[in-house]
Amino acid sequence: MSADAWWKNGIVYQIYPRSFQDSDGDGIGDLQGIQRRLDYLVELGVDAVWISPIYPSPMADFGYDISDYCNVDPRFGTLEDFDSLAAECKARGLKLVLDFVPNHTSDRHPWFVQSRASRNNTKRDWYLWQDPAPGGGPPNNWLSNFGGPAWTFDEASGQYYCHSFLKEQPDLNWRSPEVRKAMYDVLRFWLRRGVDGFRVDVLYHLIKDVEFRDNPQNPSFQAGQDPSHQLLPLYTTDRPEMQDIIVEMRRVVDEFSDEASARVLIGELYLPLERLMAYYGRTSDGLLQGVQLPFNFQLITAPWHAAEIDRIVRNYEAALPHGAAPNWVLGNHDKPRIASRVGQERARLAAMLLLTLRGTPTLYYGDEIGLTDVPIPPDEVQDPFEKNEPGKGLGRDPQRTPMQWSGAHAAGFTDGTPWLRLGGDWSMRNVEAQQGDPASMLQLYKKLIALRRNEHALHEGSHEQLEAGADVLAYARSAGTRRLVVLLNFATSETPVAAELLPADTVVLASTHADRTGAVKGELVLQPLEGVIVAQ
Ligand code: NOJ
Ligand code: MG
Repeated sequence: MSADAWWKNGIVYQIYPRSFQDSDGDGIGDLQGIQRRLDYLVELGVDAVWISPIYPSPMADFGYDISDYCNVDPRFGTLEDFDSLAAECKARGLKLVLDFVPNHTSDRHPWFVQSRASRNNTKRDWYLWQDPAPGGGPPNNWLSNFGGPAWTFDEASGQYYCHSFLKEQPDLNWRSPEVRKAMYDVLRFWLRRGVDGFRVDVLYHLIKDVEFRDNPQNPSFQAGQDPSHQLLPLYTTDRPEMQDIIVEMRRVVDEFSDEASARVLIGELYLPLERLMAYYGRTSDGLLQGVQLPFNFQLITAPWHAAEIDRIVRNYEAALPHGAAPNWVLGNHDKPRIASRVGQERARLAAMLLLTLRGTPTLYYGDEIGLTDVPIPPDEVQDPFEKNEPGKGLGRDPQRTPMQWSGAHAAGFTDGTPWLRLGGDWSMRNVEAQQGDPASMLQLYKKLIALRRNEHALHEGSHEQLEAGADVLAYARSAGTRRLVVLLNFATSETPVAAELLPADTVVLASTHADRTGAVKGELVLQPLEGVIVAQ
């Protein structure tokens, strides 16, 4: 096995730590809770766990506002708990990926406290401070992603500081060599403790225009959309200087890679396809120098039609630079869940799609049991995005509700009261119930994951898109003489598949429909919304 095999051929599982498993009854998930559930992840068959931030935080943005990068928030546990979790992952062959949040700190981080203390202190330029505009007011028109301006005035020192998100999340100045060094040392701190890589939060945001120019208006903005989309983020994201930063970051993680195992960078990047590709980095000595996995979110944003997804897969495959490893993501803690976006039946097709495409799949916790978005009444809202922009459907609480483990108290998530309400379906839709049901979403996921692991064609084979009519997404995955064909029927009616597409003596290896098995005699007719994987 090559050193990078795990992140190229494996499956990543995202845990939102507040909501996975509580161990101490405070209603908030924690590290000991995660450790308790590691055997579940092994049984599910995933290879790596990415945990959203666990660091000390005032929790203005639930951990994405960090006040100490080199410790664990007491709500989640201690550094000892972390070491224990890391050791237990290792013992099971699970890789451990942490969240790295380089764009901003908490406003309570000692660096910012010092930076705002006076204009001439040594940490002033660790953040982005600007004088008011000549006529007063913010220095330019930049908008926060969570509503309102990206600038907050500091009375005491008479300047504005920049924040791409909440005012409690001031943006670091990545032009400062000291900031870079401090943040690279954060990576080293965790790499020394044994982590296998990082998911890098809003990587494309780190550098802003050196002249602080106004962003242009977005001509296609429509009323009712996320208000931060009024402007095009031309001068606030994806600046050319990012290309040097990704090379530097990669060098830091490479210091810790060895022949047995490579450390990985996964970039959070909401960018158009050709800009996304730039984050694989420049090539030197035939190797790409940037982040190994620039997150590919197209399945999250895509309209759910066969033709649309066919186009996305073709374009993505065609755009990948030489030597780049593809990846696919179906959900995360910021976007509505797949089962709510497309419904339970289509979510089964989506599972088959995610786990048979070429490239590292990332699963969001709970999607494997078909968790749906949970409506949160206004007086229970936790997410600051929803509080800033109420009623626009932008809040993220619905997709962050506790994992549903069993029919016991609070679905087995906590002995206490969950920090966020459970889905109304928890007594029926839970891991325990689905373990025993061959037709469940969980059993489908397990089957597909096992197949992906066992079939070289699926985890490392080539990809070829096929033509199977307007409603059927079809492709072949091949390794050596083994050729698997995946056929996904997006239609709500039966759809026959042309014989030329099928291998001779077709055998169905997996179907989204639990009642289909075995050999196909004659024509293959896909059931409504059925997906199958076939081989000879
Ligand atoms: C992206 C994270 O995924 C999101 O949850 C967070 O609010 C923002 N970055 C700010 O850190
Ligand atoms: Mg707890």
